[in-house]
Amino acid sequence: MTKNPDDLYVFRVPSLRNVAMTAPYFHDGSVPTLPEAVKVMARVQLGVALSEADTRDIVSFLKSLTGEPRASFTALPVLPEGAVIPAK
Ligand code: HEM
Repeated sequence: MTKNPDDLYVFRVPSLRNVAMTAPYFHDGSVPTLPEAVKVMARVQLGVALSEADTRDIVSFLKSLTGEPRASFTALPVLPEGAVIPAK
């Protein structure tokens, strides 16, 4: 959007509150499940290959961040004209 090459591949770090309710994950919705998203994060951001047990523990923690958001939280966003919503 900025046309500045330095901004390529830079994404806002999202809030993880209610993250269990907001699949698919990442800016392009390319990852369908939370365990997969956690593994991607560990690999890409931390250089770590998480075990299944650690992944489960982290996902359990993330699920504990689920509250009672207002209905608009999980409503489809209004996107700019021409934007494509990934299939579920
Ligand atoms: C094991 C530790 C981490 C966990 C469990 C984790 C978890 C997640 C999850 C579940 C998402 C997807 C959120 C969504 O799509 O709504 C996410 C996105 C993201 N995280 Fe992490 N994260 C971790 C470490 C990090 C670190 C260390 C950084 C950066 C220093 C980071 C930066 C980001 C960014 C920039 C995104 C958005 C990427 C995009 O939309 O394409 N994360 N993280």
